[in-house]
Amino acid sequence: MLGLDLVGFLAQLAPVAPESSNAEGIRQSYLFVSIFTFAIFVLVEGLLIAFIWKYRRQKRARFADGAQVHGATKLELAWTVGPVVVLFVIAVFVFVELPGIKNIPEATAGEEQLEVKVTGRQFYWQYEYPNGVIAIDQLRAPVGVPVKLIVSAPDSDVIHSWWIPALGGKIDAIPGRTNETWFEADNEGVYTGQCAELCGLEHARMLASVEVMSQSAFDAWLAESSGDDGAAALGREEWEGVCAKCHGLAGQGGIGPRIAGSPTLTDPVALAALVRNGRRSMPAVGSGWTDEQVYALVTYLKKNPPSGVES
Ligand code: CUA
Repeated sequence: MLGLDLVGFLAQLAPVAPESSNAEGIRQSYLFVSIFTFAIFVLVEGLLIAFIWKYRRQKRARFADGAQVHGATKLELAWTVGPVVVLFVIAVFVFVELPGIKNIPEATAGEEQLEVKVTGRQFYWQYEYPNGVIAIDQLRAPVGVPVKLIVSAPDSDVIHSWWIPALGGKIDAIPGRTNETWFEADNEGVYTGQCAELCGLEHARMLASVEVMSQSAFDAWLAESSGDDGAAALGREEWEGVCAKCHGLAGQGGIGPRIAGSPTLTDPVALAALVRNGRRSMPAVGSGWTDEQVYALVTYLKKNPPSGVES
């Protein structure tokens, strides 16, 4: 019983099952390094306990010195050369794995590589697809296609970190700088992650997910999203992902004030000014938003006015 629990516990220390080859490379490196750290831990702690036992005081007088040991050339060489060899082996392994983690695979003939702009903002992720479609928090991508992510943050924002563990390592979203990462999902499904850099009060709610779907379903979604349905979906994502994290899903208030019933919600001009410029302690959550983004939010809120009552 205890044995089973131990295995379950150790399994939780391992990275999540990789769904992209770069995540696989990270997992391999993690497990490889773990072998050495575990072996060294057992060796050092084992020797510590053995020496405590072997050189315990026994009948020696309480204040008498124990045995004095000076010089052991072989031992000193061993504990110098040993770690050097271990670090060298780890370095070689990691350098062999690194290109597979870092470099985006070449798109094979007839296959389109998708490129998405990912922007980290307080406290949401914004995605821009090549055809101009914008989405919040949930990224969609086709299965088996290399997806290149251009990750950044607006100049007025703070540092965030993009991280979907099953699809690869963390990459920072830094104001004024662009970083690149990628994934190529092996299977359809929804892979979750979250902002991995403390970025303010609602950092913990800055979740992200990637929905991986078939190429045809993705193409259909992308085409559909550039029309009216897309605007409706975007409005909903903006409300839930941008406004509600601070003001509550029903606009009932949270770390931000209650906004249910506020005339600003359905006034495109006032709303645009508010989200683009911020007001008092409210940051400019929508700085750089297009008119379409503002209208998507207004349209959604006209159809779905927040009730002000937490459900
Ligand atoms: Cu964004 Cu933490």
